[in-house]
Amino acid sequence: MPDDPPSGPPKPTRRTFLLTTGTSAAAAVVAACAPGHPKTTPGQSAAPAGPAEGPSVEGAVPITLRINGKDHALRVDPRTTLLDCIRETVALTGTKKGCDHGQCGACTVHVNGRRVNSCLSLALMHDGEEITTIEGLGTPDALHPMQAAFVAFDGYQCGYCTSGQIMSAVALLKEPCGPDDAAVKELMSGNICRCGAYPNIVAAVQQVRKNA
Ligand code: FES
Repeated sequence: MPDDPPSGPPKPTRRTFLLTTGTSAAAAVVAACAPGHPKTTPGQSAAPAGPAEGPSVEGAVPITLRINGKDHALRVDPRTTLLDCIRETVALTGTKKGCDHGQCGACTVHVNGRRVNSCLSLALMHDGEEITTIEGLGTPDALHPMQAAFVAFDGYQCGYCTSGQIMSAVALLKEPCGPDDAAVKELMSGNICRCGAYPNIVAAVQQVRKNA
């Protein structure tokens, strides 16, 4: 007499397991490469933060950021950093992403006049606040004195950290800071320059402080 048929779902074999997971992985890769798939970077949420009038994003919340004197009505994924919002959603790319971990200072912007590492702050937290980026500091024809000093003192080499350096240096002018170079170095220590232009940067900051 034949055995009774097995009851319940069949147990997966090694072959069916590999077939299933292989298909899922391939589908994920195809989806990531498909046109229109949101571009992400490590640590960034997969859901893009679009403008209010853009495609709807599940769980997105409406916020208004006042950036460089202009109001931006946005819908953002609550996990979006201020840095990604500024660069990817508002398309102001002067603010740079270096480490994305709060260690290099390349992403420095001003929030209500104070410097912050925008990679460490969520856009959602700044609803209604005043953001200043390097684009809002000066213009090519009318540089901010700090921008002019960085040019005069050769305070940049590759330029990648420069916007963050300048934003920090401008904020420093309003912070308690001793008169000597050591005090400036201490307050600028959160901004890393991989080219090592530190003496030139300090000279530029001191020049602006002297003329302020
Ligand atoms: S990118 Fe924000 S501190 Fe490095």
